[in-house]
Formats: sequence, C-alpha cells, structure tokens
Amino acid sequence: MSLYDRLTALHGDLPWGAVLDAGTGRASMRWLLDRTTERWTAVTGSHAMAEATQAEIGDRAREQDRVVVGNWMDPELLAGERFDVVVADYLLGAVEGFAPYWQDRLFARLRPHVGRRLYVIGLEPYVTWRPDDETGRLVHAIGRLRDSCLLLGGDRPYREYPLDWVLRQLDLAGFRVRDVQRVPIRYGERFVTSQLDLASRAIDTLPDRALAAALQGRIADLRAHALAVVNREGGLRHGHDYVIAAEP
Ligand SMILES: C[S@@+](CC[C@H](N)C(=O)[O-])C[C@H]1O[C@@H](n2cnc3c(N)ncnc32)[C@H](O)[C@@H]1O
Repeated sequence: MSLYDRLTALHGDLPWGAVLDAGTGRASMRWLLDRTTERWTAVTGSHAMAEATQAEIGDRAREQDRVVVGNWMDPELLAGERFDVVVADYLLGAVEGFAPYWQDRLFARLRPHVGRRLYVIGLEPYVTWRPDDETGRLVHAIGRLRDSCLLLGGDRPYREYPLDWVLRQLDLAGFRVRDVQRVPIRYGERFVTSQLDLASRAIDTLPDRALAAALQGRIADLRAHALAVVNREGGLRHGHDYVIAAEP
C-alpha cells in the first residue's frame, strides 16, 4: 500500500473539500488530482518544482485551483485562507533548502490554514546512525555520500526529522494526533540511481578536480555495489516513512 493510499484510507468517508498541498510536487499532485475536491492550492518554494507540477496537472486545473510559488517563512503567504485538509508531504525534510533552522515553526505556521485535518508524510532520518546490516549500511552510505557532495558543491541537503520530534512539534503547535503509521521502506534502483546522480552532479564543477575525480570513483563503486544488492535482494530494506493524521 503506497503512502498516499494510507492517507486516503485515513481520511475515510470525510469529504476532501478545499485542500492545500503545502509542499507540492508531481507525486502529491498526481494523488490530489484523483480526489474529489472543491478546490485546491498547491504551494512550492521553487519555480522549477512549480513547472514540473504544472506539467503533471496539464489541463486538469479548474478555475478555482492554483499553484503558488512562495515561502512559508513569509507571513503573507496565503494569509487568512483556510482549507479543510492540509497535506505536508515530504515538506519538513525539504524546509532546510528554503528556510534553514526554521523547521520548528512549520506546524504552527500551517495551523491557521487547517480547517479539519493535517496529514504529514515524513521520512525517519537515515544518515545519522550507522546501521549493523549490509542493506542498511548501503542506504546510509548513499545518504552520507550524497549529502557530502551536496555540501562540497555549495548546496544544502535535506534535513529529515524523526517521528518523535514531529509528534512533539504537532503538540506544541496545537494539534491533536489522531493516527500514526510507521511504514517500512524498501529502496529500489530508482533511489540508488537518483541519489547518486544528484551527488555526481553536485561535484561536477568542483574546482579541486582531484577531489572530484576521487568522489566520482567512490560514487561509481557504491552505485555498482548497491545495484548488485538491489538485484540480488529485490531492494534495500531499511528505515521507515511515517504518516500522521492530526486535527487542530
Ligand atoms: C520534496 S518536495 C515535496 C514532494 C512532493 N509532495 C512530491 O510530490 O514529491 C518538497 C516541497 O516542499 C517545498 N518547500 C520546502 N520548504 C518550503 C518553504 N519554506 N516554503 C514553501 N515551500 C517549501 C519545496 O519547494 C517542494 O515543493
């Protein structure tokens, strides 16, 4: 069952009404377009993501639907607007790229926009602790190498937060948690390829060419090793996503 299927099941027979996708992208938009909504607003901090989301939407937006490029740090963003349902799908981890060290404000910032339900989808951090098993160590190594390359290349990597942290923040922000699900992850070829491609692109223009070459070598080795294990094991089983349903 996908994370979106879980979210749909958690919502049950409640109407969707007006929906805010507070950190939009192609996947959450694809899911949202299949719901029966009165209207939707999709927010992103990035023009490139807005374009990708528009491509997903095609001609399926109604007059009352819109994609907004803005930053939740801006108090004017959607000021005074309320939605029956607010979805924060992998938003928290990405906040570091748009509003570093502001993550503790996110749920309080979204709170006045939530009429009935807030759904949070997030990822338990997997770069922090070194796992004991082979597949865990591979996922951990990919995450660490990716983040190292992003930092060397001048980017800010995502910063994921544990479920416990999110539950504490939701409480502080005035939400009552109705349901929590921890969903085990099996990473596939797409994860290995996309994360290592990201790492490789980040160091493409490093002035220190010897360092760049050494890192590209490490990326190639890790890619070959991880893809071999994905083939052998049918994926890399490691870590959890979480889905939270909360109410104001
Ligand atoms: C990982 S992407 C979301 C994934 C998305 N739901 C999907 O379908 O794959 C994170 C989204 O949150 C947005 N975002 C992160 N921090 C933000 C902020 N401070 N203000 C507005 N949008 C933000 C990003 O621009 C991006 O659209």
